Amino acid sequence: MILDKIEQLLKEVNSLKASNAEEIETLRLKYLSKKGEINALMSDFRNVAAEEKKAIGMKINELKQTAIEKINALRENIGTSDDSVADIDLTRSAYPIPLGTRHPLTIVENEIIDIFSRMGFVLADGPEVEDDMHVFTRMNFAADHPARDMQDTFFVETNPNDATKNIILRSHTSSVQTRVMETQEPPIRVICPGRVYRNEAITARAHCFFHQVEGLYIDKNVSFTDLKQVLLSFAREMFGVDTKIRLRPSYFPFTEPSAEMDISCHICGGGGCGFCKHTGWVEILGCGMVDPNVLEQCGIDSSIYSGYAFGLGVERITNLKYQVSDLRLFSENDTRFLREFESAY
Ligand code: PHE
Repeated sequence: MILDKIEQLLKEVNSLKASNAEEIETLRLKYLSKKGEINALMSDFRNVAAEEKKAIGMKINELKQTAIEKINALRENIGTSDDSVADIDLTRSAYPIPLGTRHPLTIVENEIIDIFSRMGFVLADGPEVEDDMHVFTRMNFAADHPARDMQDTFFVETNPNDATKNIILRSHTSSVQTRVMETQEPPIRVICPGRVYRNEAITARAHCFFHQVEGLYIDKNVSFTDLKQVLLSFAREMFGVDTKIRLRPSYFPFTEPSAEMDISCHICGGGGCGFCKHTGWVEILGCGMVDPNVLEQCGIDSSIYSGYAFGLGVERITNLKYQVSDLRLFSENDTRFLREFESAY
């Protein structure tokens, strides 16, 4: 009885025909769904004598397998011409995956590192959350120096009696100079890139954080001419061989003598424009010979060693190189701005 039914269904299944996806689905429901014909056999199967169960079970499985294959074959036969099934066009080009770009400050910082690396400087690093000892005290800042004011520096923790417990956000990368001198013996030749913080109102020309690259060279017989030559080479590598430099006397507690360095304006070529305030020159860094007091504070014998240091502003150099006029663009994360640097390296 059940065997007849199986035979009959097998015949039906083998001669199934359909011309579209809808008809195939109807057939699938008729034979293969939970309430379909093949599943219905199961109620009869329960009454089959135990010794026949195995053989009949195999037949039912065979029928089911045949039905699945037949339905699949029908599906393949109607092919992609029926777009109710084939509504995915595999030949369409894919949406592009948007790739990020390097941040302009990273591009310029990497270029600065690259130039100084070729002159023998190696990378050094220090914390952004620093103590007064490394940012100010060992750098020869007087106790009442205005840089130590709340208005200029962000304080994380204060302790009037112990400079190592006055915790601040570093206001310059010169703090890494002290960290390096404390732990390394001369000759020392390092550059220290990093973020610095100052308590400033945010405008087009000032921000509460920005980036510097510090340079430090300590050895026997280091002179100001060495400093000047290294900085001239840097300016020419960065802005082109025609770039001129100008050193103006200045003051920093940790260098003596000290200077600020201008380069001929990269935008107008030195003729004068809005960017250089019609002077033809733009300031890019502070520098000088390391003050002997700093060497001594950091455990280096100033009667044997001398050195120079410089600290340059990465934003300033980026502004010059890419003619960016508003500092805030660097931290707003506006992808229209950032995408402008897609082709820079
Ligand atoms: N630290 C100084 C500043 O932030 C720059 C500087 C570095 C000057 C090293 C001299 C030597 O303005």
